[in-house]
Amino acid sequence: MNELDGVLDLAVRLARAAGKLQRDRYETRFEVRAKTTPINLVTEVDHACEKLVVEGIAAERPDDAVLAEEGSGRDRDDAAWRWVIDPLDGTTNYAHGYPRFCVSIGVEHESERTLGVVYDPLLDELYTAVRGRGAWLNGRRLRVSTTASLGEALLATGFAYDVRRSAVDNLDHFAALVKRSRAVRRDGSAALDLCYVAAGRFDGFWELKLHPWDVAAGLLMVEEAQGRTSDLHGGPAPRSGRELLASNGVIHDALVDVLSHRGEPA
Ligand code: IPD
Ligand code: CA
Ligand code: CA
Repeated sequence: MNELDGVLDLAVRLARAAGKLQRDRYETRFEVRAKTTPINLVTEVDHACEKLVVEGIAAERPDDAVLAEEGSGRDRDDAAWRWVIDPLDGTTNYAHGYPRFCVSIGVEHESERTLGVVYDPLLDELYTAVRGRGAWLNGRRLRVSTTASLGEALLATGFAYDVRRSAVDNLDHFAALVKRSRAVRRDGSAALDLCYVAAGRFDGFWELKLHPWDVAAGLLMVEEAQGRTSDLHGGPAPRSGRELLASNGVIHDALVDVLSHRGEPA
């Protein structure tokens, strides 16, 4: 097995194991705390999943850099391989027993997005992408949708945890696209939203103020499914997740027009 296949194999094993933990503890009693704002939650399952993934990497690949959302990874500049982990994406859903959440693992090699694995444990859906080798869902090749116009598009978005106090709250974009698209969903897991664009379930997704762990795997998933990613103005999508637009490519320019406030009034 070459090194890339070994990394993929490890990422898949760890995503499945963390997903099993999420499934086993789903709708049981677990501790829930607020982090930066009263609506930004973390549960003991987030921490348990992160521990499982971070320790699993350390055991087999101790020299790799690890950026993990809850802070237990060791990130470094001098490593060839870097793992970017969201141990539980969709924590608000998880805490409320709303069945939409996942584990997301992205891996960079020499600073390039190289591999992504997202696992939805309730649907038993495993998404994988490797640069140049396509995006896959449970072994089936993924391709973005062919939806040709914004008016026929099913879109998704989300809102950051500072929505109560920030004027940059995405509500203007949300209102504009509700008026122009077929419908807009807000389903609470950015990593799955991106996988759904890759799978052709959503035609487009945008969000502001995401983080590297939200987008590390999903961006590659969309790119490898022949979709397009960018910031809201059509420039390169930042790895930070600060601004993100992903689509089937066909409706991308129309989305940029609306999101950069260059569109016609609704
Ligand atoms: C959140 C989810 C949500 C998005 C938030 C993210 P978390 O991640 O992806 O859909 O709207 O911006 O922070 O906190 O559940 O890992
Ligand atoms: Ca997240
Ligand atoms: Ca998370």
